[in-house]
Amino acid sequence: MAGDWIRTVTAQTPTNIAVIKYWGKRDENLILPVNDSISVTLDPAHLCTTTTVAVSPGFDQDRMWLNGKEISLSGGRYQNCLREIRARAAEVEDKERGIKIAKDDWQKLHVHIASYNNFPTAAGLASSAAGFACLVFALAKLMNAKEDHSQLSAIARQGSGSACRSLYGGFVKWIMGKEENGSDSLAVQLVDEKHWDDLVIIIAVVSSRQKETSSTTGMRDTVETSLLLQHRAKEVVPKRVVKMEDAIQKHDFASFAQLTCADSNQFHAVCLDTCPPIFYMNDTSHRIISCVEKWNRSEETPQVAYTFDAGPNAVLIARNRKTAALLLQRLLYFFPPSSDTDMSSYVLGDKSILKDAG
Ligand code: DP6
Repeated sequence: MAGDWIRTVTAQTPTNIAVIKYWGKRDENLILPVNDSISVTLDPAHLCTTTTVAVSPGFDQDRMWLNGKEISLSGGRYQNCLREIRARAAEVEDKERGIKIAKDDWQKLHVHIASYNNFPTAAGLASSAAGFACLVFALAKLMNAKEDHSQLSAIARQGSGSACRSLYGGFVKWIMGKEENGSDSLAVQLVDEKHWDDLVIIIAVVSSRQKETSSTTGMRDTVETSLLLQHRAKEVVPKRVVKMEDAIQKHDFASFAQLTCADSNQFHAVCLDTCPPIFYMNDTSHRIISCVEKWNRSEETPQVAYTFDAGPNAVLIARNRKTAALLLQRLLYFFPPSSDTDMSSYVLGDKSILKDAG
């Protein structure tokens, strides 16, 4: 390992949007959820994180930059991911450049990490999901850790819960698991990105400001105070997950839209049921919901599904390209993006064209 060298790996990982939400942890340190969740992975061209990880004998500490600004790696989440990947690191030999890193060397070597989001960080666009998935994937490549995507998802989960679902394209399920050590709390791919490729996703960026209550803090308060969460996690979500998997398998858009909208609304109801109440949506979000509901009711069958994460931005899923064109037309008419209105921009978040992260 002697010498003056640097080895780098770059990875790109898309974000994902939950159609059955994760909200609430049963173990905060290991990030174990109170229910299963299901998401769709977006197109990395529009919403993704790119991370370069580097190792060199010249580095004297682990360091990280996010969007060009250095951030601290002292938090438990980063440390958990680094520790778990280092524990799985294997020998690396780059004959061309004369670099050989033995398995044990990884315990002494330090890494530098540079990560860049091509979308607003922490504005309810699941930036931590893409971020931690990408970090774990890139580190695993750098350190030659030969884990499969599900095993890597269980590590990414310890960075941010929703990150475990970004290791796959298509529709992905995070199985909550039963084990206390979290070994069975991981993501699996339900169907790949080709399975339902008529769907088109448009994200209405109502506000790109950082959210006031982080998901982590919000969830903690919800778990401590909301009775509705207990009902949701035990009674509602288990049945909904079964129905959602069925709707996805059968390309049943009517059921898919009904379940997606209902789950988003219940998640925000749970936020309101929290003490103190959490408001992630704003008036514009509510107006978008009314607009979609009205449209869906005026048609024989639903045309568009909506879902909102921990922020006011709307994720709209159109049943096909024709509907997506109509949707965009209506959005631009009713919610024109400008500095005088509450609409910032629209982003096409088509389903991931990537099979897997990387
Ligand atoms: C509303 O994964 O950001 O987007 O595990 O504390 O990092 P931590 O939370 P995070 O929460 C995401 C919440 C959500 C729903 C979802 O993605 O399932």
